[in-house]
Amino acid sequence: MAAATAATSSSGVLLAAVAVLAAALAGCGAGAALDDPAGLLRRAKEPEFAGWMVGLRRRIHENPELGYEEFATSELVRRELDALGIPYRHPFAVTGVVATVGTGGPPFVALRADMDALAMQESVEWEHKSKVPGKMHGCGHDAHVAMLLGSARILQEHHDELKGTVVLVFQPAEEGGGGAKKMIDDGAVENIEAIFGVHVADIVPIGVVASRPGPVMAGSGFFEAVISGKGGHAALPHHTIDPILAASNVIVSLQQLVSREADPLDSQVVTVGKFQGGGAFNVIPDSVTIGGTFRAFLKESFNQLKQRIEEVIVSQASVQRCNAVVDFLDKDRPFFPPTINNAGLHDFFVKVASEMVGPKNVRDKQPLMGAEDFAFYADAVPATYYYFLGMYNETRGPQAPHHSPYFTINEDALPYGAALQASLASRYLLEHQPPTTDKAKAHDEL
Ligand SMILES: *[C@@H]1O[C@H](CO)[C@@H](O)[C@H](O)[C@H]1NC(C)=O
Ligand SMILES: [Zn+2]
Ligand SMILES: [Zn+2]
Repeated sequence: MAAATAATSSSGVLLAAVAVLAAALAGCGAGAALDDPAGLLRRAKEPEFAGWMVGLRRRIHENPELGYEEFATSELVRRELDALGIPYRHPFAVTGVVATVGTGGPPFVALRADMDALAMQESVEWEHKSKVPGKMHGCGHDAHVAMLLGSARILQEHHDELKGTVVLVFQPAEEGGGGAKKMIDDGAVENIEAIFGVHVADIVPIGVVASRPGPVMAGSGFFEAVISGKGGHAALPHHTIDPILAASNVIVSLQQLVSREADPLDSQVVTVGKFQGGGAFNVIPDSVTIGGTFRAFLKESFNQLKQRIEEVIVSQASVQRCNAVVDFLDKDRPFFPPTINNAGLHDFFVKVASEMVGPKNVRDKQPLMGAEDFAFYADAVPATYYYFLGMYNETRGPQAPHHSPYFTINEDALPYGAALQASLASRYLLEHQPPTTDKAKAHDEL
């Protein structure tokens, strides 16, 4: 209002008018400085901005797509990037999209979102329930895509201020498909110095972020074994070789790998989740199939478990005169390495996140035995960092866990993820400018 009256007068007053206009712009979030995490959070929380992310998330939620089938999700991502004027390359790993904001030159820092849903039926009745029977965004990857588009918008609003290039990685198939590995193979993260991944977390309070240096998620592998005997009449067991009994003993013996052979201070898991065979009350079947997963944080422990799982299955089956063939299924499902957070990036994360949500809302996170394909990026990117974004709001009641048919997203969390990812990337560029003198080796701490 002040600007309108002043503009009729002399050039000095006109300058004042420009200043007023600039101040007005700065007052709305889009004008907040890029290097101000709390300001970016205020921007992302503005109703129009937050509502736009919520709308994207709900559209993705209604149309969940499994790993390597995220065609509509990928198209939605590309349409939004087009609307924001952000260039991208596509496809990587079938449906992946890699966008860039900034100078186009080094340094390069990446932000990653996974896009896939789960093969499960949503049980929550609400307006934007999954429209695809048997498929559901039950882990929160719909929120991850919406948040990364939010980061893209924030960064694009400040693209002139970026001191390098932010690479936005939208990847397929996190849930067991190893989409990250295929993204790397397709060249999605070449020249990237550091990459940040975020996951919404049901048990972390809203407004809180949590992580730790070092191991944060376990390495994970799968196994399947066919245990073969000789089928026959259940009333004449002496004419058969019973694979059900052999498989039962195998499963009991597998429990002792962790309880008796692993260091109690080195967390590991072996779980048999599949047991199939037989089908009649009075028939001993020819064979039984068992399968499961194993988890560990250290490479040596992981390899030890793998070797012992095979030995125990084959040897224990032979006690009951059965043959066993073990398959680790790693051609279809690559082993996930443990997710290890770079220690230098942890300090960096704590600093930037504290500026956004306050130091008391940046918390330590216990490592999880769950696995995360974000771990693969460590093969190609020197520094990787993964953290959890709080969603739990006590006043809204209990929050169903991830992979539950009752899982929900607290959409209030979206602005936090969008703003924090954008802040981490832009600050990283600022602090990692290419050395201007030959003795400057600024990257040692990473
Ligand atoms: C938690 O939920 C209540 C009720 O919906 C809301 O008023 C409050 O702002 C929420 N807290 C946060 C931090 O989002
Ligand atoms: Zn999941
Ligand atoms: Zn997930």
